[in-house]
Amino acid sequence: MIKPKLYITRKVPEEIVEPFREYFSISMWQYEEEPVPRDILLKEVVDAHSILCMLSERVDKEVFSVGRSLQVVANLAVGYDNIDLEAASEAGVIVTNTPGVLTESTADLGFSLLLATARRIVEANQYIKEDKWKNWSPYLLAGTDVYNKTIGIVGMGRIGEAIARRAKGFGMEILYHNRSRKVEAEDRVGATYVEFHTLLEKADFVISVVPATPETNGMFTNEAFRKMKDSAVFINISRGSVVNEKALLEALESEQIAAAGLDVFAEEPIRANHPLLNKSNVICLPHIGSASMETRTKMLQLCLENITGVLQGTGPITEVPH
Ligand code: DGY
Repeated sequence: MIKPKLYITRKVPEEIVEPFREYFSISMWQYEEEPVPRDILLKEVVDAHSILCMLSERVDKEVFSVGRSLQVVANLAVGYDNIDLEAASEAGVIVTNTPGVLTESTADLGFSLLLATARRIVEANQYIKEDKWKNWSPYLLAGTDVYNKTIGIVGMGRIGEAIARRAKGFGMEILYHNRSRKVEAEDRVGATYVEFHTLLEKADFVISVVPATPETNGMFTNEAFRKMKDSAVFINISRGSVVNEKALLEALESEQIAAAGLDVFAEEPIRANHPLLNKSNVICLPHIGSASMETRTKMLQLCLENITGVLQGTGPITEVPH
């Protein structure tokens, strides 16, 4: 029997893929750190029944029109803004993502970024490595406290709730804003629902965990930053598209807010000459929210199980509703 083809758009560990070779004819892009060129993706997809792709691939109308045999696209991320869901529906292709398995790792990263930004960890590390540490002094690299402060979580999904659990351990007052109220989550983590503007006005730490949708696009505007406290720390671990980066820069430059920690950007990868990178009060990370060895392995396995479910007829485990 001819095995259905699975194309993986990045080189991933063979030991994870190997058990699935029994069912599929698997080929993958040859590099781990470089995305597959568009023309190769379009060529590979022609006879593919499934693709396992990264958030760096644009899976759009063109991909679906070329990939006439495609049945499933498994995205190695919980976010799926790189995939045209409407085109997938029209083509009758199932799209899956990786919710759940990455929740705790992503919340760990979000909270690390919050702590590191508040306590100027990266700056302090740089200071000592550049041999600037000549004397101890009382306010040397003094940051801001996290304990007992107020956190404003924008987006109370799984990751938002996991952030709230961490915030609780730090004695924080937890405010959140979400498309709809999450009463059960409020009970579980002791969070209070507030309007977006109230959250911005009251929070010492504003953390964005919202998915990229047309509604959230550019929601952190000039006005939003103006509403924040001048001591506020802004953290973004969701998607760069939710922030107007020019407005964020202006807010930092005019000291409307104190600092920012960013794991995601409007355009990725950002280049070293990006103005946000020149600021000592901004910590930038290369979109590593879920990047722990354990979690990335679980994400890959979930993608492979989703593909198996679709191609063998038992159904996907985590289908993106569309
Ligand atoms: C996701 O899962 O959407 C993350 O941004 C990728 O790590």
